[in-house]
Amino acid sequence: MKGLIVESNKQFALKDNLAPPIPEQDEVLVRIKSASVNPYDAESAAGRFDEYFAEYGVDKDVQSGLEFSGIVESDGKRFKRGDQVFGYVNMITGWKSHAEFIAINEDYMALMPTHVDFSQAAAIPLGSLTTLVALQDLGQLKTGMKLLINGAAGGLGLQGIQIAKLLGAHVTAIAGDSQTEYLQSYGADKVYDYNRTNIKELTEKFDVILDLTNIQTLAAMKPLLTPNGIFIPAEPSQENGGESEDTQVGYLMVMHGNFEQLTRIANWVDEGKLKATVDKEFKFTDYLEAFSRLQQKGRRGRIVLSW
Ligand SMILES: NC(=O)c1ccc[n+]([C@@H]2O[C@H](COP(=O)([O-])OP(=O)(O)OC[C@H]3O[C@@H](n4cnc5c(N)ncnc54)[C@H](OP(=O)(O)O)[C@@H]3O)[C@@H](O)[C@H]2O)c1
Repeated sequence: MKGLIVESNKQFALKDNLAPPIPEQDEVLVRIKSASVNPYDAESAAGRFDEYFAEYGVDKDVQSGLEFSGIVESDGKRFKRGDQVFGYVNMITGWKSHAEFIAINEDYMALMPTHVDFSQAAAIPLGSLTTLVALQDLGQLKTGMKLLINGAAGGLGLQGIQIAKLLGAHVTAIAGDSQTEYLQSYGADKVYDYNRTNIKELTEKFDVILDLTNIQTLAAMKPLLTPNGIFIPAEPSQENGGESEDTQVGYLMVMHGNFEQLTRIANWVDEGKLKATVDKEFKFTDYLEAFSRLQQKGRRGRIVLSW
């Protein structure tokens, strides 16, 4: 099996002859067609999750790749050989998707939307599922409520804007240069360029603030919140207040896929209510270019690797 591994100097390398996964109970084998590249992957290569891998006894060759689309290769209880699926692997214990095959619990994936290709399908699950949990479950976002998304043009942001509109909210988005019309085409009601507008100087109040940049803190965002408003940092920490007991914080941690919610998301895609955005597709052999694209500003949606 081919896959990306992290070498001792913390650099990625594409290797052959890796041991393919053998599905355990409730798992099926999936041949990966496409997998996204996102900030987690670079952090994983840099060793950010090593202590968790050690804690859970995870010793897999491939340590990057959370989202995927592919074809089921073994019959399961819910899926059968040949089904086209998409999903999101367990962030710590799962077989990671920067490989030719994964074994995965059937609860972590759903049938792919029918009107998208594999690369588009691989750009959907993480951003859609995470922002759905953030906005619907933590933020309790409902019709007419006001949402601020900071960092709105990336992999989570574009899905978050669309899901917020599906929930009926008014969406203010903050992103980089030249993104205004683009984000409006995704449904954003108001767009600010972070190079020209300091978020802390906004005078509006928001029911939910979703910070996808990991720059903002609860203390800095409180003046922008309504009395019952919720601040949701993408990576909760002590520094940004995301781990505090404050009632105005939503603790966001989506570790794995979810069959029911992914099916709901696939239906939205099929109904034309939610679109996937591939910033750029690369072949797995061009993984270095894909990871260098991850470091560039002005991306729109997801970078995708395809076999
Ligand atoms: N808690 C969870 O369960 C969970 C799950 C999934 C992801 N996450 C986290 O969510 C975060 C976002 O993920 P992603 O995939 O959407 O990342 P991404 O694609 O890199 O998007 C981040 C966005 O932030 C923008 N940005 C950078 N500096 C900014 C600033 N000063 N003000 C406003 N926007 C700024 C970037 O725009 P430019 O292009 O202009 O730089 C980019 O569009 C990551 O930290 C990820 O680890 C958390």
